[in-house]
Amino acid sequence: MQVPLLDLKAQYQSIKNEMLPVLTGVIDSQLFILGQNVEALEQQISLYCGAEHAVGVTSGSDALLLALMALDIKPGDKVITTPYTFFATAGSICRAGAEPLFVDIHPDTYNIDPGRIRELLGRLSAGERSHVKAVMPVHLYGQCADMAEITAIAQEYGLKIIEDSAQALGAACMMAGRERKSSSMGDFGCISFFPSKNLGCFGDGGMVTTNDEGYAKKLKSLRVHGQTETYVHRYIGINGRLDALQAAVLLVKLPHLDAWAAGRQKNAALYEKLFAEAGLLECITPPVKRADRNHVYNQFVIRAKNRNALKEHLTKNGIGTAIYYPLCLHLQDCFKFLGGKQGDYPEAEKASQETVALPVFPELTPKQIEYVVEQIAAFYKK
Ligand SMILES: Cc1ncc(COP(=O)(O)O)c(C=O)c1O
Repeated sequence: MQVPLLDLKAQYQSIKNEMLPVLTGVIDSQLFILGQNVEALEQQISLYCGAEHAVGVTSGSDALLLALMALDIKPGDKVITTPYTFFATAGSICRAGAEPLFVDIHPDTYNIDPGRIRELLGRLSAGERSHVKAVMPVHLYGQCADMAEITAIAQEYGLKIIEDSAQALGAACMMAGRERKSSSMGDFGCISFFPSKNLGCFGDGGMVTTNDEGYAKKLKSLRVHGQTETYVHRYIGINGRLDALQAAVLLVKLPHLDAWAAGRQKNAALYEKLFAEAGLLECITPPVKRADRNHVYNQFVIRAKNRNALKEHLTKNGIGTAIYYPLCLHLQDCFKFLGGKQGDYPEAEKASQETVALPVFPELTPKQIEYVVEQIAAFYKK
């Protein structure tokens, strides 16, 4: 049996009839830059997330960069983030001219550990602390970071919060007694519409959310080269607009997002049941869900004994897997100048050696999931 890590064709087949007339409409209009589809999507995403404003941009990576630019983050500034994430999180901080200050993750959730943020800030001198301007938590794999605690720390130290929600549109957690969606809690929320995300477009796309009208205006200017009127530039911005075709695709897909997330959650629950029934919990650890938040499983990542050999066994047996992420950011060549070395962030380094993502996309069948679990069991029996 073949079980791909992700099968986007299955999803497309289910919405093809809705999609094609909408795309034809955009093509017939020959209006491709910003316009009414982008505005409609911005409105719907802000409603969906519970944020006041949303600004459509070129990608999740540019969403992060534009949020940093809106905050005037500049050379000499530092931004706290995790070393166990996709490259763009820390890359965007350097693209803004600042430096990432890495903080280790919690071993259960793989998200940045707020206790260690506190430790770091407590360790820095007042002078060093004055350069720390923001914190960029990542809601990794589809589960929110510990936003209540991160918000308390940010308030105490006067830091801005940029949520990297690239993998977590639709994820939610409890804060101050009420449920909050990802991208509504920080000063900015950054969303990716990369095709493999829970809400993916037909190319690259992204969105920045904010509850601050001033930031929203600045973001709208920064995404068109800092223009405030035609050919009048207040800031040095970038070409960072979401295009109309991508917005039209996303408008068709957004109404299905929660049902797709429910499909992922159902698949995750079946994996967990079958892992327990097969007696596999000594060899693997399924994703740990915190009681005060949901998980939308953009990725279903397990910790596994003998990970590399397991991955090889699954590949040989037709099962797609991936490692998110095999090399922590502080150990990447391009970040050597920051002085990071092996052993600096032990939980992140351990996770990079021990975790593997299994297929979890909504159209996966119970038979396919049973086959994946059978193959994992067969591997550990050997
Ligand atoms: C955690 C995280 N941040 C940022 C990004 C960047 O998003 P994009 O690929 O849309 O630029 C991604 C995408 O993979 C991501 O997973």
